[in-house]
Amino acid sequence: MDVRTLDDLVGDFAPGGKRIFVRVDFNVPLERDAAGAIVVADERRIAASLPTLRWLLERGAALIVASHVGRPEGRPDPALSMKPIADRLAALLGRPVGFVPSSIGETVLARSSRLQPGDVLVLENLRFHDGEEACDPELARALAAPAELYVNDAFGTCHRAHASVTGVPGILPGVAGRLVEVEVAAFKKAMHEPARPVVAILGGAKIGDKIGTIRHLRKLADHLLIGGGMACTFQRAQGLPVGASLVDIAALDVAREILAERDGAQLHLPTDWIIAKEISSSAPYQIVPLDEVADPWRALDIGPRTINEFVGLIKESATVLWNGPMGVFETPPFDRGTLEVAVAIAEHPCVSLVGGGDTARAAKKARVVDRLTHVSTGGGASLDMLSGIDLPGLAVLRGRLGA
Ligand code: 3PG
Repeated sequence: MDVRTLDDLVGDFAPGGKRIFVRVDFNVPLERDAAGAIVVADERRIAASLPTLRWLLERGAALIVASHVGRPEGRPDPALSMKPIADRLAALLGRPVGFVPSSIGETVLARSSRLQPGDVLVLENLRFHDGEEACDPELARALAAPAELYVNDAFGTCHRAHASVTGVPGILPGVAGRLVEVEVAAFKKAMHEPARPVVAILGGAKIGDKIGTIRHLRKLADHLLIGGGMACTFQRAQGLPVGASLVDIAALDVAREILAERDGAQLHLPTDWIIAKEISSSAPYQIVPLDEVADPWRALDIGPRTINEFVGLIKESATVLWNGPMGVFETPPFDRGTLEVAVAIAEHPCVSLVGGGDTARAAKKARVVDRLTHVSTGGGASLDMLSGIDLPGLAVLRGRLGA
């Protein structure tokens, strides 16, 4: 682990009696309950930061907890308040959690100055300020003002060079929390001198945002399996019909380039598809070979022959890296490819690393989360890790503490 961690908080930096700004990624889905109140729909990211929060609280720190939720574009939006998230945090921590409806300024300074060891104060959504995403140094100074130390436990946001991610640790002595530590170690284990053969599986709708990942995994893996909507773009790039399937037109040229490259991992594309005219559980569907996807039909899941091939390769692997579903897994029967891939990975004794929000949801739907080596809390952050990118939020936590 080359970034500083909680274990570096010793001597002058010991957490006892200090106010600590903890950047978490509580960007969780919200929904309305029966009474119409906004509540947390999936608490996985909140639960994932509890070890860090508890570790600091047990050592007598007072915590100022901050996150973004959603993309409010620099303006306050009551539907994206951190208040319901603070309430859920209180329930999970089993202790009172204060909430302040701003993230900087007099009220925050006043409330923070009254914090006692063991207290927790949650700030309002950081992205209500446009300076957060712009990494405004003035906002970073204002966020840092009430605290003496900084802890980044927001693995899912470490790919964003935002004020609370890269700005504040430039001002306060900062370390990574346990979640960041666990995530980075899992990626390192699966990607740095991994046990071979390595099977990488990519899916999801578009290839536009996964080109760097495809290229990096082509170098790293032995087999690169591509499913989901993105495989249709490769299919179209080969001059094959795709019917009414989603195609990333802007990425066709790069898809052709990737298909022409002979070095690195062997590329495996679907050889058959499940097609339907609409995304609906009641829509009639067919299983067809890859060259028989005709308008108005669209490819919505990989077919049984492709599933067999993918599962066979998974069973021969020592390491599996997986990002992106194989089809429209939210809508049966187009969930079969994704669920069978998830189960095959879980049942095979290999190091498995699963990243991306949809993929984590698919693993949950397949009930295999506990049988995978690591399911990342990161979406874009995990994709960047799979692309071999040094995340800015990690880069600022290297070197000697306080140096
Ligand atoms: C995520 O959900 O991937 C992180 O919270 C980052 O959110 P963002 O993509 O809106 O920056």
